Amino acid sequence: MNFHIMTLFPEMIEQGLSTSILGRAKEKGYIDFEAVNIRDYSADLKHRKVDDYTYGGGAGMLMQAQPIYDCFNAILDRIGKKESSCDGADENIGLGVKRPRVIYVTPQGAVFNQQMAADFAGEDDLIFLCGHYEGVDERVLEEIVTDYVSIGDYVLTGGELPAMVMIDAISRLVPGVLNNDESAMTESFNNSLLEYPQYSRPEEWMGKKVPAILLSGDHKKVDEWRLEQSIIRTRERRPDLYEKWLSENPPKPEKKKRRRKKSSTETESNTNTETKTYTEAKTDTETDSN
Ligand code: ADE
Repeated sequence: MNFHIMTLFPEMIEQGLSTSILGRAKEKGYIDFEAVNIRDYSADLKHRKVDDYTYGGGAGMLMQAQPIYDCFNAILDRIGKKESSCDGADENIGLGVKRPRVIYVTPQGAVFNQQMAADFAGEDDLIFLCGHYEGVDERVLEEIVTDYVSIGDYVLTGGELPAMVMIDAISRLVPGVLNNDESAMTESFNNSLLEYPQYSRPEEWMGKKVPAILLSGDHKKVDEWRLEQSIIRTRERRPDLYEKWLSENPPKPEKKKRRRKKSSTETESNTNTETKTYTEAKTDTETDSN
């Protein structure tokens, strides 16, 4: 997977992506990234200007179309994805040439999530455009951008941090990037559930004990406990995810007790029975660990 990041602050990207797991993955060749300085493509050779005032008035400066477009075309040239011309953000630019996806990181985009990370991880090349100042001239966005993506409903000073957040989440899904131990970890958002609580040595810290079941050596019971804890945690912290999980994993109807056909109200309360079980389990474990 090759990441190409169009930015006014390439050193920020280079430093941010060169350490830890991503730095190792780059050294080993599983991922590669280039931070491309948009300023290098300014038509203003003297001042290397890339921004200007907004038509119609308003505070702040706007990033101009031309340097971004030239920067983008230089990337396409380098990766061999450019035909004679590149008009519009259509996916295919010529016979057999698939145009890479271009992600504009913006608070106006769709909010990034694990599913999007998995989708992007299937690409060979991804181009990110990091905005600054008050934004980017709309015309170049129309011309090159395929995906508008945000990392959440808040506004940052620039697109570099959001781009790095996305690149991190995408990279760890690229085969080889995580080693066996790292990738074997059960993770939050797999199956729409958050990760269960985890404990390491010592067995007791500040009067708090590791839940006894984790010391039992009974792997089946440990797995059941972890699933239950994941469910409880998700319901408490992320009710939205819990509802999603519940709709994907509807409670199984109880087999034995059914002597007669249940009315619709009774079927509804079936869900509550399942919920109650989780609540009971929660109370149990809380007592356990106190
Ligand atoms: N640029 C500024 N704020 C942003 C956000 N929340 N997500 C993506 N890009 C941004």
